[in-house]
Amino acid sequence: MSVSLPTAASLYDRVKRVIPPIEWPAFAGDIEAILALKAKRNAVILAHNYQTPEIFHCVADIVGDSLALARKAMAVDADIIVLAGVHFMAETAKLLNPGKTVLIPDLGAGCSLADSITAADVRLMRQRYPGTPVVTYVNTSAAVKAESDVCCTSGNALAVVESLGTPRVIMLPDEYLAKNIAAQTKVEIIAWKGHCEVHERFSSADIRELREAHPGVTVLAHPECPPEVVAEADFAGSTAAISGYVGRHKPARVVLMTECSMSDNVAVEHPEVDFVRPCNLCPHMKRITLANIRAALVENRHIVTIDPNVAERARHAVERMLAI
Ligand code: 13P
Ligand code: SF4
Repeated sequence: MSVSLPTAASLYDRVKRVIPPIEWPAFAGDIEAILALKAKRNAVILAHNYQTPEIFHCVADIVGDSLALARKAMAVDADIIVLAGVHFMAETAKLLNPGKTVLIPDLGAGCSLADSITAADVRLMRQRYPGTPVVTYVNTSAAVKAESDVCCTSGNALAVVESLGTPRVIMLPDEYLAKNIAAQTKVEIIAWKGHCEVHERFSSADIRELREAHPGVTVLAHPECPPEVVAEADFAGSTAAISGYVGRHKPARVVLMTECSMSDNVAVEHPEVDFVRPCNLCPHMKRITLANIRAALVENRHIVTIDPNVAERARHAVERMLAI
């Protein structure tokens, strides 16, 4: 039995609030081709919340924050996974699906946090703080995960830190996430000096200016923002938690202190909410486009591989997180 695919025209209705009609013809051909290629190759597309709306709402099968993508990657029933996101997310999907082909449409889609630390750095931290468990943010390479006891995401970091039952933990590599978690727990946290190049640019002065310009605006921040930003925001949480907050509270006017596409993607679901738009673009997330997703499916590129010695230890750290 052949399954009928949605047409690009029918999908436009969904995203018309955030994609002007003049831009749509540039997307429609790639969208129809990608929908057909997914069916032909038994492929699924996993897309992070920071992907642009024509990817997030029109071709993705599974969307979410890093934690949701890792959890849902475990249950994928397809031969091919295309990861519309950054390289560490594709590696995590591969770790959890060693027998499947995992493709990333652009190998240059990195992350400033993942680039801030190496496996050798983690070994040095262990030597410096003997016996202290290492919690590693998923925004790291598989080689760094392999040196860790357990991974975390911004969605479960507090629960992971407290699950270890030790008076102190090493938490790598995001200094601000570590400090934001330290403010919520009695566990002593030893941090690294990594920063997200997108979230470190938000300041508490930005929040004060926004509140002055838009009285009553609700400010939601990602915990990769500096602690003073999180302290002045009305709520801080992972990208999924931010999206959930908007759905539950439906603030009249909101600003999301995070990557720009979040506002577009959440706005599609909540037309009644007014989104104020100062935001910062992640240049790595923006390397993924409809054109290179289409090319990935046609040319079977770029295949994500992980050294088996690294993969076994890194998988253990990710699976231990998912079990919490
Ligand atoms: P989330 O886990 O909240 O989706 O964050 C991932 C990320 O890269 C944020 O910059
Ligand atoms: Fe990395 Fe920051 Fe981009 Fe997320 S937004 S992928 S943490 S650089």
